[in-house]
Amino acid sequence: MVKGRKLYEGKAKVLYEGPEPGTLVVHFKDDATAFNGQKFEVIEGKGVLNNRISEFIFQRLMDMGIPTHFIKRLNMREQLVKKVEIIPLEVIVRNIAAGSIAKRLGLKEGEPLPRAIVEFCLKNDELGDPLVTEEHINAFGWANPQEVDDMIHLSLRVNDILSGLFAAIGIRLVDFKLEFGREYSPDGMVRTILADEISPDSCRLWDMKTGEKLDKDRFRRDLGGLVDAYTEVARRLGIISGNNGGGSGPKLVKG
Ligand code: TMP
Repeated sequence: MVKGRKLYEGKAKVLYEGPEPGTLVVHFKDDATAFNGQKFEVIEGKGVLNNRISEFIFQRLMDMGIPTHFIKRLNMREQLVKKVEIIPLEVIVRNIAAGSIAKRLGLKEGEPLPRAIVEFCLKNDELGDPLVTEEHINAFGWANPQEVDDMIHLSLRVNDILSGLFAAIGIRLVDFKLEFGREYSPDGMVRTILADEISPDSCRLWDMKTGEKLDKDRFRRDLGGLVDAYTEVARRLGIISGNNGGGSGPKLVKG
């Protein structure tokens, strides 16, 4: 499949024109950044793992009726997606206190929250992706009230589905970040659909038994072992064939 010209380069992905109008090719890089790009490292193998893990998760969500931009994986680092107009917000769902909410509200990391909490942040690196309320979103027109409703409803469904999916493989879904886009159909209808990626870069995933972090906090907090942790997530999801203690390392399952 031939990809078109480069449209945009983000911190962890590059977007190209797709082979058909209304499609894009997403290329997953090995670049890891944190703190709005201030911390940077190339971690060999991260892009391949995130491409596979995100594909797997989007497939499972689509099986459950969640509308997404995902069409198909093309190769080890690339996937074909629908082109959408990205809503300039990050939607964060939290089940357990960690990261910025722990700091902001003085909560102990690991404390369960009274219920799942949905937060919105404005996508703006220069401002450090500030937390915003529905009042700001409506007033500045970043999304309309129907879209805010759609994003909350879809995010909570994604949380239920993924909390179950991860619990079944001994992983606690602590929190995660989603992005949504507007899909325009030829008849002028607009639909809010899930976009971007869902991977250990955008989730906090803790081993249920040991509490070990299996996500990007390994990089953010200089814990090391990021590729091993992401590989473990992929292995438990069944994306990588089990190879415990083998000398040759994990094998990516074909397909
Ligand atoms: P936070 O606790 O730092 O606000 O992060 C909440 C969740 O969102 C966590 O799972 C990591 C994810 N996240 C991103 O995917 N991108 C970001 O830029 C940030 C700040 C967090």
